Amino acid sequence: MTAPAFLLFGAHGDLALRMLWPSLFRLHCDGSLPQDMALYGVSRSGTTAELHARLHRVLSEELNDGNRHRLAAFLAKIEFINLDAGRAADYADLADNLRRAGRHVAISYLSMPPDLFTPIVANLQGAGLIDPRTRVILEKPIGKDLASSRAISDGIANVLAEVQTYRIDHYLGKEAVQNLLALRFGNAIFEPLWNSHHIESVHITIAESLGIGGRWAYYDKSGALRDMVQNHMLQLISLIAMEPPVNGSSEAIRNEKIKVLQALHPITAANFIDCVIFGQYTASTEGHMPGYNDEPDAAEISNTETFVAIKAHVDNWRWKGVPFYLKTGKRLASKHTEVIITFKEVPQYLFGQKPDTDLCNRLVIQMQPDESITLEIFNKTPDVHEFILKPVALNLEITDAGNGKIRHIAYERLIRDAIKGDRTLFVRRDELEQAWAWVDQIHAARKTTQAPLLHYPAGGNGPDFE
Ligand code: BG6
Repeated sequence: MTAPAFLLFGAHGDLALRMLWPSLFRLHCDGSLPQDMALYGVSRSGTTAELHARLHRVLSEELNDGNRHRLAAFLAKIEFINLDAGRAADYADLADNLRRAGRHVAISYLSMPPDLFTPIVANLQGAGLIDPRTRVILEKPIGKDLASSRAISDGIANVLAEVQTYRIDHYLGKEAVQNLLALRFGNAIFEPLWNSHHIESVHITIAESLGIGGRWAYYDKSGALRDMVQNHMLQLISLIAMEPPVNGSSEAIRNEKIKVLQALHPITAANFIDCVIFGQYTASTEGHMPGYNDEPDAAEISNTETFVAIKAHVDNWRWKGVPFYLKTGKRLASKHTEVIITFKEVPQYLFGQKPDTDLCNRLVIQMQPDESITLEIFNKTPDVHEFILKPVALNLEITDAGNGKIRHIAYERLIRDAIKGDRTLFVRRDELEQAWAWVDQIHAARKTTQAPLLHYPAGGNGPDFE
């Protein structure tokens, strides 16, 4: 009997230091890491002492009176492994090390560029480090289009079964995103209204205030469509638009999500102009924030989009005719993620002069920075002379509902699920490929139509859309 090892490839990377190590520490503190599991930080150069010192600094923000004494035990679980991910010979040393320690690879987390996924998995197999107990977590982006994503998935599938493959989309680890399922399928009152008979439109917005500084080289090859829409936004639309699953199992839920992606109306050169806007931020009006092409690490003048807005349609019985407005961008006025479901107006207004505003109820699901659910309903303002309706908000602050419980890092939940073998919140291969196919068509249509790139000042609201 061997004990489990967790390998974190890219141990010194930005994501690992900001999210993955802190998530592992939290899991350690709440007892969710198996007692006998050892953690191996894998990277091209470094030592265990250096990694420990770095983690000490990074994790100091996580420390409080309740967990301070656990840090030493956490660090004692962590060893650093020097390894060049592309060099098969280095894996023999890793295998020796693990054999001596009496361990097998339970999880390999690849926080690495996607072109290394297949070589890493093949090298692990070559060194005898993959068996049916091994699970591999793949960080996004998995490819840059359908063809490259397929090639990666084929390479992985040569070594691992789909049930061993865990594709991360960190949005699925967010409490508020999971709460979409709870809202829809844990309450009887919404489902009868959740269709084109009662819903006018759906807006999904992920606005970010930060720019690209520091990530230009990666981002410039990606752009907002690949970086945010292909994954996070399409996951949100799937959860909002899916049919009730036959049960709560991971396969049943993912079977319904993929149908939404399959029903997305294609965006081609014929409808591109009516449905899509690409934008890029320029310097802020006061000039203190640089434009995309003037970021310190910008390598050239580029047309990569930092903003995209799409009017999408889900072509099925439930959603026919309902526009889904997807909008995401960098360097916008504020960081917020929200979903707004706008219901249809009442068929007849009974209270004298109708106000100028639309009398539509709205369900506003705020996901970031704060989590809340608000149902806007119309109410009579107290007045003996007139009958005037005003919107009021029925408001649920999610932090209240959780009794002030600290919000978990999305990755914490996902890593815990991978260790337990629960794939519900991971993306299946068919979902990933369907999402790429839709996004690839939009890229192709952009080329064919030579649609203009709209410029917007950093710190503003982005180009107008709708
Ligand atoms: C990542 C993107 O997947 O998501 C980043 O690569 C983006 O560009 C980030 O900033 C946004 O995540 P969150 O959780 O801050 O909304």
